[in-house]
Amino acid sequence: MVRKFFVGGNWKANGTTEKIKTLCESWKSTTKDGSTLDTGSVEVMIAAPMLYVTMTKDLLPKGFQVAAQNSWTGKGGAFTGETPAEMLKDLGVDWVVLGHSERRHAEFGSEDEEVVARKVEYAISVGLNVCLCIGELLEEREADKTMEVCIKQMKSVKDKLSKDSWDKIVVAYEPVWAIGTGKVATPDQAQEVHDQLRGWMKKEIGDDVADKMRIIYGGSVKPSNAEELSKKADIDGFLVGGASLKPDFIDIIETYKTGGSA
Ligand code: PGA
Repeated sequence: MVRKFFVGGNWKANGTTEKIKTLCESWKSTTKDGSTLDTGSVEVMIAAPMLYVTMTKDLLPKGFQVAAQNSWTGKGGAFTGETPAEMLKDLGVDWVVLGHSERRHAEFGSEDEEVVARKVEYAISVGLNVCLCIGELLEEREADKTMEVCIKQMKSVKDKLSKDSWDKIVVAYEPVWAIGTGKVATPDQAQEVHDQLRGWMKKEIGDDVADKMRIIYGGSVKPSNAEELSKKADIDGFLVGGASLKPDFIDIIETYKTGGSA
Protein backbone atom coordinates (compact mmCIF):
# COMPACT_ATOMS: atom_id res chain seq x y z
CA MET A 1 0.00 0.00 0.00
CA VAL A 2 1.47 3.33 -1.07
CA ARG A 3 0.52 6.15 1.24
CA LYS A 4 0.93 9.69 -0.05
CA PHE A 5 3.53 11.53 2.04
CA PHE A 6 1.97 14.29 4.15
CA VAL A 7 3.76 17.33 5.57
CA GLY A 8 1.94 19.74 7.86
CA GLY A 9 3.25 23.04 9.16
CA ASN A 10 1.83 24.26 12.44
CA TRP A 11 2.50 27.95 12.89
CA LYS A 12 0.87 27.95 16.35
CA ALA A 13 0.30 31.51 17.64
CA ASN A 14 3.03 33.07 15.49
CA GLY A 15 3.00 35.49 12.60
CA THR A 16 2.00 38.93 11.41
CA THR A 17 0.56 39.96 8.06
CA GLU A 18 4.03 41.00 6.92
CA LYS A 19 5.82 37.87 8.13
CA ILE A 20 3.27 35.57 6.53
CA LYS A 21 3.53 37.41 3.21
CA THR A 22 7.31 37.22 3.27
CA LEU A 23 7.35 33.53 4.15
CA CYS A 24 4.83 32.58 1.48
CA GLU A 25 6.75 34.64 -1.08
CA SER A 26 9.99 32.90 -0.19
CA TRP A 27 8.34 29.50 -0.60
CA LYS A 28 6.94 30.54 -3.97
CA SER A 29 10.26 31.89 -5.19
CA THR A 30 12.07 28.61 -4.48
CA THR A 31 9.55 26.72 -6.51
CA LYS A 32 8.62 26.29 -10.11
CA ASP A 33 5.45 28.09 -11.21
CA GLY A 34 4.87 29.19 -7.64
CA SER A 35 4.53 25.61 -6.56
CA THR A 36 7.07 23.09 -5.36
CA LEU A 37 4.60 20.36 -5.23
CA ASP A 38 4.40 17.15 -7.02
CA THR A 39 0.87 16.85 -5.66
CA GLY A 40 0.72 13.27 -6.82
CA SER A 41 3.45 12.38 -4.31
CA VAL A 42 3.09 14.76 -1.38
CA GLU A 43 0.32 16.64 0.37
CA VAL A 44 1.12 19.84 2.28
CA MET A 45 -1.03 21.55 4.90
CA ILE A 46 -0.32 24.79 6.73
CA ALA A 47 -2.14 25.44 10.01
CA ALA A 48 -2.27 29.20 10.42
CA PRO A 49 -3.49 31.15 13.45
CA MET A 50 -7.27 31.58 13.20
CA LEU A 51 -7.11 35.28 12.34
CA TYR A 52 -4.78 34.65 9.41
CA VAL A 53 -6.33 31.49 8.01
CA THR A 54 -8.10 33.06 5.03
CA MET A 55 -5.25 35.42 4.21
CA THR A 56 -2.82 32.51 4.35
CA LYS A 57 -5.03 30.44 2.07
CA ASP A 58 -4.71 33.15 -0.59
CA LEU A 59 -0.95 33.59 -0.18
CA LEU A 60 0.27 30.00 -0.07
CA PRO A 61 1.98 28.45 -3.08
CA LYS A 62 -0.28 26.51 -5.41
CA GLY A 63 -1.15 23.07 -4.11
CA PHE A 64 -0.63 23.90 -0.42
CA GLN A 65 -3.76 23.40 1.69
CA VAL A 66 -4.74 25.50 4.66
CA ALA A 67 -5.80 24.40 8.14
CA ALA A 68 -7.16 25.93 11.31
CA GLN A 69 -5.58 24.94 14.63
CA ASN A 70 -8.85 24.36 16.47
CA SER A 71 -12.60 24.18 16.04
CA TRP A 72 -15.62 23.89 18.31
CA THR A 73 -17.36 20.66 19.39
CA GLY A 74 -20.60 21.41 17.56
CA LYS A 75 -22.68 23.80 15.56
CA GLY A 76 -22.35 27.54 16.10
CA GLY A 77 -24.57 29.53 18.41
CA ALA A 78 -24.13 31.21 21.76
CA PHE A 79 -20.50 30.17 22.27
CA THR A 80 -18.47 33.34 22.65
CA GLY A 81 -15.01 33.12 21.16
CA GLU A 82 -15.41 29.69 19.58
CA THR A 83 -14.99 28.73 15.93
CA PRO A 84 -17.53 26.21 14.67
CA ALA A 85 -16.23 23.88 11.99
CA GLU A 86 -18.94 24.85 9.50
CA MET A 87 -17.54 28.41 9.41
CA LEU A 88 -14.15 27.03 8.43
CA LYS A 89 -15.81 24.95 5.74
CA ASP A 90 -17.74 28.00 4.55
CA LEU A 91 -14.46 29.90 4.08
CA GLY A 92 -12.91 27.10 2.05
CA VAL A 93 -10.57 25.83 4.77
CA ASP A 94 -9.47 22.27 4.04
CA TRP A 95 -8.21 20.94 7.35
CA VAL A 96 -8.35 21.41 11.10
CA VAL A 97 -5.68 20.29 13.57
CA LEU A 98 -7.31 18.79 16.66
CA GLY A 99 -5.97 17.28 19.87
CA HIS A 100 -2.66 19.13 19.75
CA SER A 101 -0.82 18.65 23.05
CA GLU A 102 -0.73 22.41 23.55
CA ARG A 103 -4.53 22.20 23.77
CA ARG A 104 -4.75 18.90 25.64
CA HIS A 105 -2.34 20.25 28.26
CA ALA A 106 -3.08 23.96 28.00
CA GLU A 107 -2.52 26.21 30.94
CA PHE A 108 -6.20 27.15 30.98
CA GLY A 109 -9.09 24.81 30.24
CA SER A 110 -7.32 21.80 28.79
CA GLU A 111 -9.18 19.50 26.43
CA ASP A 112 -9.72 15.92 27.56
CA GLU A 113 -10.12 12.93 25.22
CA GLU A 114 -13.90 13.27 25.13
CA VAL A 115 -13.77 16.92 24.03
CA VAL A 116 -11.18 16.17 21.35
CA ALA A 117 -13.29 13.26 20.07
CA ARG A 118 -16.41 15.44 19.87
CA LYS A 119 -14.48 18.08 17.95
CA VAL A 120 -13.19 15.47 15.49
CA GLU A 121 -16.66 13.99 15.02
CA TYR A 122 -18.23 17.37 14.34
CA ALA A 123 -15.47 18.63 12.03
CA ILE A 124 -15.77 15.50 9.91
CA SER A 125 -19.55 15.77 9.84
CA VAL A 126 -19.27 19.15 8.07
CA GLY A 127 -16.70 17.84 5.59
CA LEU A 128 -13.38 19.04 7.02
CA ASN A 129 -10.28 16.86 7.08
CA VAL A 130 -8.71 16.39 10.50
CA CYS A 131 -5.09 16.16 11.54
CA LEU A 132 -5.54 14.30 14.83
CA CYS A 133 -2.64 14.75 17.24
CA ILE A 134 -1.82 12.24 19.93
CA GLY A 135 1.20 11.64 22.12
CA GLU A 136 2.55 10.96 25.58
CA LEU A 137 4.14 13.18 28.19
CA LEU A 138 7.71 12.51 29.31
CA GLU A 139 6.60 11.01 32.62
CA GLU A 140 4.21 8.71 30.76
CA ARG A 141 7.02 7.48 28.50
CA GLU A 142 9.28 6.96 31.48
CA ALA A 143 6.51 4.96 33.19
CA ASP A 144 6.26 2.81 30.04
CA LYS A 145 2.79 4.09 29.29
CA THR A 146 3.35 5.46 25.78
CA MET A 147 1.05 3.05 23.98
CA GLU A 148 -1.56 3.05 26.71
CA VAL A 149 -1.84 6.84 26.45
CA CYS A 150 -1.81 6.97 22.65
CA ILE A 151 -4.39 4.20 22.34
CA LYS A 152 -6.67 5.84 24.87
CA GLN A 153 -6.53 9.03 22.78
CA MET A 154 -7.26 7.05 19.60
CA LYS A 155 -10.03 4.98 21.15
CA SER A 156 -12.12 7.93 22.28
CA VAL A 157 -12.14 9.12 18.65
CA LYS A 158 -12.79 5.63 17.28
CA ASP A 159 -15.84 5.26 19.51
CA LYS A 160 -17.46 8.26 17.81
CA LEU A 161 -16.62 7.61 14.15
CA SER A 162 -17.95 5.39 11.42
CA LYS A 163 -15.30 3.41 9.58
CA ASP A 164 -15.61 5.61 6.47
CA SER A 165 -14.78 8.75 8.45
CA TRP A 166 -11.19 7.60 8.89
CA ASP A 167 -10.60 8.56 5.23
CA LYS A 168 -10.70 12.19 6.40
CA ILE A 169 -8.03 11.75 9.07
CA VAL A 170 -4.27 11.94 9.29
CA VAL A 171 -2.84 10.87 12.65
CA ALA A 172 0.08 12.90 14.00
CA TYR A 173 2.12 11.11 16.66
CA GLU A 174 3.80 13.86 18.65
CA PRO A 175 5.58 12.84 21.84
CA VAL A 176 5.02 15.86 24.07
CA TRP A 177 8.62 15.76 25.33
CA ALA A 178 9.84 16.31 21.76
CA ILE A 179 7.65 19.30 20.93
CA GLY A 180 9.52 22.58 20.77
CA THR A 181 12.33 21.12 22.88
CA GLY A 182 14.87 20.35 20.18
CA LYS A 183 14.79 16.76 21.49
CA VAL A 184 13.61 14.72 18.53
CA ALA A 185 12.48 11.10 18.93
CA THR A 186 14.94 8.77 17.25
CA PRO A 187 13.73 7.22 14.00
CA ASP A 188 13.49 3.87 15.84
CA GLN A 189 11.47 5.34 18.71
CA ALA A 190 9.03 6.96 16.30
CA GLN A 191 8.83 3.91 14.04
CA GLU A 192 8.06 1.65 17.00
CA VAL A 193 5.07 3.76 18.06
CA HIS A 194 3.80 4.22 14.48
CA ASP A 195 4.01 0.48 13.89
CA GLN A 196 2.07 -0.28 17.07
CA LEU A 197 -0.54 2.35 16.26
CA ARG A 198 -1.05 0.81 12.84
CA GLY A 199 -1.34 -2.60 14.47
CA TRP A 200 -4.00 -1.27 16.84
CA MET A 201 -5.92 0.26 13.92
CA LYS A 202 -5.79 -3.04 12.03
CA LYS A 203 -7.32 -4.85 14.95
CA GLU A 204 -9.84 -2.23 16.06
CA ILE A 205 -10.86 -0.47 12.84
CA GLY A 206 -9.83 -2.67 9.93
CA ASP A 207 -6.85 -3.67 7.78
CA ASP A 208 -7.90 -1.35 4.96
CA VAL A 209 -8.10 1.73 7.21
CA ALA A 210 -4.79 0.88 8.89
CA ASP A 211 -2.98 0.32 5.59
CA LYS A 212 -4.19 3.61 4.15
CA MET A 213 -3.74 5.77 7.27
CA ARG A 214 -0.99 8.38 7.10
CA ILE A 215 0.73 8.38 10.50
CA ILE A 216 2.99 11.39 10.61
CA TYR A 217 5.60 12.29 13.22
CA GLY A 218 5.88 15.63 15.01
CA GLY A 219 8.34 16.98 17.56
CA SER A 220 11.42 19.05 16.69
CA VAL A 221 11.47 18.00 13.03
CA LYS A 222 14.01 20.06 11.06
CA PRO A 223 15.61 19.87 7.64
CA SER A 224 18.61 18.19 9.30
CA ASN A 225 16.70 15.25 10.81
CA ALA A 226 13.69 14.87 8.49
CA GLU A 227 15.35 12.74 5.85
CA GLU A 228 16.44 10.03 8.25
CA LEU A 229 13.00 9.90 9.88
CA SER A 230 11.29 9.82 6.49
CA LYS A 231 12.98 6.56 5.60
CA LYS A 232 11.15 4.56 8.26
CA ALA A 233 8.41 2.33 6.87
CA ASP A 234 5.59 3.66 9.04
CA ILE A 235 6.53 7.35 9.11
CA ASP A 236 4.32 8.83 6.41
CA GLY A 237 5.27 12.47 6.85
CA PHE A 238 5.61 15.17 9.49
CA LEU A 239 3.85 17.79 11.53
CA VAL A 240 6.32 20.61 11.93
CA GLY A 241 6.11 23.52 14.36
CA GLY A 242 9.07 25.91 14.65
CA ALA A 243 10.72 24.84 11.40
CA SER A 244 7.54 25.55 9.41
CA LEU A 245 8.07 29.28 10.04
CA LYS A 246 11.22 29.29 7.93
CA PRO A 247 11.98 29.32 4.22
CA ASP A 248 13.76 25.95 4.41
CA PHE A 249 10.55 24.20 5.46
CA ILE A 250 10.56 23.40 1.74
CA ASP A 251 13.49 21.03 2.42
CA ILE A 252 11.32 19.07 4.85
CA ILE A 253 8.58 18.80 2.22
CA GLU A 254 11.17 17.50 -0.22
CA THR A 255 11.85 14.47 1.99
CA TYR A 256 8.86 12.84 0.34
CA LYS A 257 11.52 11.75 -2.14
CA THR A 258 13.29 9.59 0.46
CA GLY A 259 10.11 8.76 2.35
CA GLY A 260 7.10 6.93 1.18
CA SER A 261 5.76 3.64 2.29
CA ALA A 262 6.41 0.35 0.63
P1 PGA B 1 7.98 21.62 16.90
O1 PGA B 1 6.38 21.50 17.09
O2 PGA B 1 8.28 21.14 15.50
O3 PGA B 1 8.29 23.06 17.11
O4 PGA B 1 8.58 20.72 17.94
C1 PGA B 1 5.66 20.43 16.56
C2 PGA B 1 4.20 20.58 16.84
O5 PGA B 1 3.85 21.06 17.94
O6 PGA B 1 3.35 20.23 16.01
